[in-house]
Amino acid sequence: MSAPIIRSSARFWFQVALFDLFAAAVIGVLLRAMYIVEIPFVRFRPWLHGHSHTALLGWLFIGIAVTLLHDGGRGDLTSRSRWLLGGLQAAVLTMLVSFPIQGYGAVSIGASTVHMILGYALLYAMWKASWSWPKKGSRALLRFAIGFFVLSTLGILTIGPIIASGNQGTEIYYWSVQFFLHFQFNGWFWFAAMALGVRWAERNGFSITIDQLTMGLWVVSAILTYALAIAWSEPHPAVFATVSIGVALQVWATIRTLRILKRLGAQAHERVLPWARILIGIALVSMAMKVLVQAGVAIPQVAVMAFTVRHYVMGFIHMNTLGTMTCLLLAYAVMHGWCDLRSPSLRTGLWLIASGIVLSELMLFAQGTLFWAGWGLIPGHYWQITAASALIPIGVLVVLVKGLTQRPTGPPQMVEQFKGI
Ligand code: HEM
Repeated sequence: MSAPIIRSSARFWFQVALFDLFAAAVIGVLLRAMYIVEIPFVRFRPWLHGHSHTALLGWLFIGIAVTLLHDGGRGDLTSRSRWLLGGLQAAVLTMLVSFPIQGYGAVSIGASTVHMILGYALLYAMWKASWSWPKKGSRALLRFAIGFFVLSTLGILTIGPIIASGNQGTEIYYWSVQFFLHFQFNGWFWFAAMALGVRWAERNGFSITIDQLTMGLWVVSAILTYALAIAWSEPHPAVFATVSIGVALQVWATIRTLRILKRLGAQAHERVLPWARILIGIALVSMAMKVLVQAGVAIPQVAVMAFTVRHYVMGFIHMNTLGTMTCLLLAYAVMHGWCDLRSPSLRTGLWLIASGIVLSELMLFAQGTLFWAGWGLIPGHYWQITAASALIPIGVLVVLVKGLTQRPTGPPQMVEQFKGI
């Protein structure tokens, strides 16, 4: 492996995060395969925790931080950020090994606590590094993303005292787990995704401003929709009223944001490589679906269904984490030459990832709907979804290996010839 690859540190740490996605996806396939064959060495819940922690705190946290700090090549990683990333990755690897072995235990909880503390420090570095970004655009979005990440960890910090007071498994315990997941998905990921997109537009000379009303609607709706998690165990009219207001504000924010995006129009489209358009397309459809699904869940009957059919819960989680965030981070890598599209096998890798995400999501929602309708199991469903899911780790492995053996190509305008798909 030649030295130039290590020097481009943001690209290197992106590949480290990609390794975490590969590890999480392999566990994901094992978990799916457990519905069809017995895998003696895999205990479902401890491995599930290993899967979700590696994917959320490894791939997504490190991937988002590195792309925002890289800032299209304008920013770079200070030695302090690199040390923090090294510590974060060590914590992720510890969780990857310890959760399957012990579930929630001293080592796994210790590692996730270390990750949280180092995470705060890296977020502070991102806060400082984005000081010069436009106030009414990417800077505001990133500050809300960081604020929501910190807010989400309050859910984790309360779990210890809840368990210590003998309330594990009770309503308040689930509310705090859901508090973490809700503000990770609807706050940290959602605002980080918008910050990534708006920052790209700013770097490419597009004037884009998120007005105060639109920003306020996104922030307030992200907070009020937390009531969705409460509605699951407390289907009280006031809770559903809060949900309804929250999702109505979110739909209003979406309409206003679509108007802003429309103004960017064809010019922006022209500047995006075809492969990045596919990935961004999947991400935008997933974001629209998230808003529509949450709007549907404002109806109590739909809410009960959405929470009781596990296929729907898993479909929704992976629509956010794979459909939106994973595709946006891969689009960033394509747009900045971290994935060299001249390589046919790399393009195949991207095809495998995109097909695995779209197919497994369609299967989760299709089977979920049949379960809801009481129409039973699609014949061979668990074989099909395991096969579709297996495309993801295979594709990630191809992209990772190609990435590690290729020289960086630099941003797209340097590689105009990559118009092919
Ligand atoms: C960005 C990447 C991903 C993230 C952040 C993620 C996150 C999660 C989370 C939070 C859960 C629920 C955990 C719980 O209930 O405690 C979960 C479950 C699961 N994930 Fe993922 N995941 C990702 C990618 C994948 C991939 C690529 C696959 C398959 C190849 C996969 C397969 C599964 C399976 C099978 C479950 C358990 C489903 C069940 O309980 O029925 N995930 N994931």
